[in-house]
Amino acid sequence: MSRVILILNGPNLNLLGQREPDIYGRTSLEDIRALASARATGHGLEADFRQSNEEGELVSWIQGARTTAAGIIINAAAYTHTSVAILDALLASGLPVIEVHLSNIYKREEFRHHSFVSRAATGVICGFGAQGYELAVDAMAQLLNKAKTA
Ligand code: DQA
Repeated sequence: MSRVILILNGPNLNLLGQREPDIYGRTSLEDIRALASARATGHGLEADFRQSNEEGELVSWIQGARTTAAGIIINAAAYTHTSVAILDALLASGLPVIEVHLSNIYKREEFRHHSFVSRAATGVICGFGAQGYELAVDAMAQLLNKAKTA
């Protein structure tokens, strides 16, 4: 089995650290990449960490993961609330999916309360800022270990 976890980040997350820091924190996406990669290494896994502002590119990466990754962690950002295409790609992947958000989307505007991604996700981690990615890697490692011993 692949030991790679694909960690996907959607639009505007390239601006983390500068973008609305009161909501999203001061940690940059590069810092989050380092945190998530270190956590994955600690579990004997490898993080393939990517960001795109384009829906189609995210869909193509999810399709690619079917043959290269063991699981997907995704913060689809604004596409969380709009993208049936990303949901369908996640469902088609047949891989375990964990959804992450830096902010607690349920504490925010009503339009952020609905997530298409959630329908494909084993679980959702939101509201813990950058630490949410580390928690997601821990959860994915557990899911993969369980699948191995099942
Ligand atoms: C986000 C929450 C989304 O509603 C928003 O569009 C984002 C970031 C988060 O990580 O809190 O861009 O996914």
